[in-house]
Amino acid sequence: MGSSIYQMSTRSKPCWSKISTLCFLFTFFSFVPSLLTSQIPVITSDQSNAITPLSPSSPSYQSTTLGSNSALFAVETAESPKNSANVLLAPSSYTQSSECALILQRTYVVNLPSESTRSPLFAGFLSVIKQPAQFTPVPTGKQEELCIRYVDVETAIQEAKYRRNYIRPNGLNSLEPLPPIISQTAELALEVTRVLATQFKLSPDEILNGLPLIDLSRTTLWEECPAHVKPIPCTIERYRTFTGHCNNLKTPSWGVTFTPFVRYLPPVYSNGIDGYRVSVVDGSPLPSARMVTATVHRDVDRPDSDLTILIMSWGQFIDHDLTLAAPPRDENDLEFDCCELRERGTDHPLCAPIIIPDDDPLYSPFGKRCHDFKRSVAGHRPNCALGPRAHINTLSSPIDANFIYGSSDALARRLRAFKGGLMKVWDRFNAYGLKPLLPPESDNPERDCTARPRHLFCFIAGDERVNEQIHLTVLHTLYVRDHNRIATALAELNPHWDDEKLFQEARHIMAASVQHITLNEFLPLLLGTEMVEKYNITVQAEGYRDDYDANVHIGPSHAFQTAAFRFGHTFIQGMVRRYDKFHQFLGEDPLHNLLRQPFIVYEPGKMDELIGGLINTPAQTYDPFITQEVSGRLFQPPHKPFGLDLAAINLERGREHGLPGYNAWREWCGLGRAQSWQDLVPVLQNNTAYLYSQIYKHPDDIDLWSGGISEVRLPGAMIGPTFACIIAQQFSNIRRGDRFWYDRSGLPSSFTPEQLYEIKKSVQSKIICENADDIPTIQTWVMRQAHPIFNPRVACSDLPSIDLRYWQEDPNTGALLYRRK
Ligand code: HEM
Repeated sequence: MGSSIYQMSTRSKPCWSKISTLCFLFTFFSFVPSLLTSQIPVITSDQSNAITPLSPSSPSYQSTTLGSNSALFAVETAESPKNSANVLLAPSSYTQSSECALILQRTYVVNLPSESTRSPLFAGFLSVIKQPAQFTPVPTGKQEELCIRYVDVETAIQEAKYRRNYIRPNGLNSLEPLPPIISQTAELALEVTRVLATQFKLSPDEILNGLPLIDLSRTTLWEECPAHVKPIPCTIERYRTFTGHCNNLKTPSWGVTFTPFVRYLPPVYSNGIDGYRVSVVDGSPLPSARMVTATVHRDVDRPDSDLTILIMSWGQFIDHDLTLAAPPRDENDLEFDCCELRERGTDHPLCAPIIIPDDDPLYSPFGKRCHDFKRSVAGHRPNCALGPRAHINTLSSPIDANFIYGSSDALARRLRAFKGGLMKVWDRFNAYGLKPLLPPESDNPERDCTARPRHLFCFIAGDERVNEQIHLTVLHTLYVRDHNRIATALAELNPHWDDEKLFQEARHIMAASVQHITLNEFLPLLLGTEMVEKYNITVQAEGYRDDYDANVHIGPSHAFQTAAFRFGHTFIQGMVRRYDKFHQFLGEDPLHNLLRQPFIVYEPGKMDELIGGLINTPAQTYDPFITQEVSGRLFQPPHKPFGLDLAAINLERGREHGLPGYNAWREWCGLGRAQSWQDLVPVLQNNTAYLYSQIYKHPDDIDLWSGGISEVRLPGAMIGPTFACIIAQQFSNIRRGDRFWYDRSGLPSSFTPEQLYEIKKSVQSKIICENADDIPTIQTWVMRQAHPIFNPRVACSDLPSIDLRYWQEDPNTGALLYRRK
């Protein structure tokens, strides 16, 4: 891991001095006694942020899964439509008529200052902590009915087109429009929202819950709405679409490629539309994301005693099946650096670089004040409904192994061999008798590929992040090989099947196997048995489970994508180790040299050595600490002494996606809102509560990702309770809301009882054995380290495998030939 350059600075400067070691010791020992003696202060939540969240345990919760920005969220107070000092709007109720696109029934309230009985937090010591002003809303008696007419909406559309200089992009009728196209139409819809919000002085509640109710099919904006978010006809088939269309027959666009992330809690945008989250105390910007990283998420090496880094990489691999927010790219489909653009005097509308504090311990010595950051591309809700900024997921939402095949027909076509049901591979090591590599990315060789030697290429796969870190490249390679292994076996059993049938059936089996491994091996370790049982995300030992629910939105939530499932960043190991087939250590390289630089696998035999590393290297443990290999050296070009800071990016991403803070999520999960820093002391590891008190103004300001990874682990789990709750809810939705889930019965997609029994034999260790070149022994549960008693190494041949004979058909009748007695 090497020594950290994020060790607390002893230089005495205003903001860093607060966290210098001496200062810390002094303050900590002075303030702990006052913690123990002071009364627990009572703080009511900030009114501008005061929402009535629905928790997973609430009876109405089901309905929140119906779509983002559902009208179920009640905002208790909102900005004044007249901008007068204290006259506000209570939540409006909404109706429509033939002339009125939206009728707002408004009730005015006046916010009277509450009598504060609170004593200052950490009384007498940390007097710097400020409190948000407290108000009690009292109705003024004034009510108003406001009609936004269709003609008003039409005028707003024309105004928005003019402001944006809008020209309709080509390709809106495609079910697979590309992010730059969606971006143009989505920004137009946002502009319409802005125009209406200003004209009618809409409150955040009205923007969030009212505007989406406008029927745009009665306006000209409908012509600008891309086809993939409009209703389409569906038929029931055995195989999934690549985009996820028609998985949900009731709402065919749920869970579809290029549709927005779902909200479990309403967004917290400072302006109600798209402004970054701000402090609840005074509306000022939150502390620099870089400052939070350098204060809380330093590099401390703490290897886990049980888990291997395979569990970390599997988490990332599964994430790459589920989520990818669209980053903006340049005209050559390449990444660009906002800081470099600004140095050259140009800009991009989605550029929003992170400002680095003057006394930053990593970047300041190099005179760097600007850290690259771009907002994610905006997207459309179903039917292009108006409302606050939404961000698109460029992947299909179910666990469907799309990291092998892609989330669009176009990408699948690029990756398929169209022969024998196979995927394209690169037989580079034929001469050595070694298994193939992924196909090389030769069309756009510099895309997300760093320091490429002229004769070598990065790789292509179903997910564009295949080269992000070397172990992902390894997993992608193993899974493409496994697809081809299964397709080849099916072809031998069913010579009458054509390419399409072989490909689709192998794909169907692969998706089922990935679902099973995730439920059987990954989630119980991640969440602990109590949580997986509570959320019913366990494997059913025998038979089918028919609890499909078409009302469950399968789409990944913002909280999951932007924070909770980034839990994995704390498990990243700073060194990439290699082991031989006897599990002996061979050597290691710093991770940053293997990010977007997968060239090591061009050496014959290295693939197996890296697999050896995956199953033998301990993961880092769950704590607030992040290896500097990614929190300062992420994608570091060879000629530079530093790279990007992934932790800072995570925080900034949450803010730009309008993600409510950590405390709001604690409440949503039923864990109770921390009322003071003191409440957080037993909840967070080490001295994180204290460090937070030095950089944030209020517990409500803490960013979700930061608070989540700092929590004390749940017993028997890898992570803390807030992330566990968000992730468990997500996987519950993914399981119940997927019509193609592997243990459903009675559908064309269902496996026979025998086939299902075989699928349930899938184990990660066997997949590694089958697809590595020569790994003869392995521990059965590869996400845990080998142990002579609890997880001994066994011969690969002793591990169970799927018996594909249960897929063999009579070529004449199509009937399956094998039945279990
Ligand atoms: C060496 C390992 C890893 C690297 C280099 C890496 C890097 C990155 C980067 C650059 C992003 C984009 C951040 C942004 O712009 O918002 C990202 C996003 C993300 N990462 Fe990681 N990551 C790693 C491991 C993991 C692991 C182990 C997990 C989970 C177990 C994970 C989960 C996520 C998730 C959920 C996202 C959001 C993806 C999206 O929807 O766009 N990552 N990661």
